Amino acid sequence: MSILRVETYPSEILRKVAKPVDEVTPDLVRLIQDMIETMYKEEGVGLAAPQIGVSKRIIIASPQAKPGTEKVYLNPEITKKEGKTLGLEGCLSLPGIAAEVNRATKITFTALDLQGNKITVKAEDFFARIIQHEIDHLDGKLFIDHVAFSERKELLDSLKKNLMIG
Ligand code: NI
Repeated sequence: MSILRVETYPSEILRKVAKPVDEVTPDLVRLIQDMIETMYKEEGVGLAAPQIGVSKRIIIASPQAKPGTEKVYLNPEITKKEGKTLGLEGCLSLPGIAAEVNRATKITFTALDLQGNKITVKAEDFFARIIQHEIDHLDGKLFIDHVAFSERKELLDSLKKNLMIG
């Protein structure tokens, strides 16, 4: 397994709509194992394939931030949203900045698991927030797109400084 490089803003791949996965191959499984290792190494609670430079609809999530508890979803699609909650979000592709973002409190989504089975999952609160954030990545969206223009400008200014230092 290996640690992958995480793409940071304004990398173009972060703005692309990712392609569906049509087959779970051994190479894909290896890539996902590397994504999992990378997520824990970078202390993230979620990661989407475009963030490691692969424009495919793959997300991983670990709301407990504990190795072994991660979930892997291929081609995830939200089918139901309920409620709205404001909560702080950050992103490994936007190091050092965070903002309050509105997300649905409860969601239902479908996906393929690593065995290629279609599954339906209900998520709420922090887990639901992670899934919505990661699915955004598959559609070329970032959490800063959900904040008001003036706040976004400030966030991007501090991000620029963080990227120069880091
Ligand atoms: Ni992110």
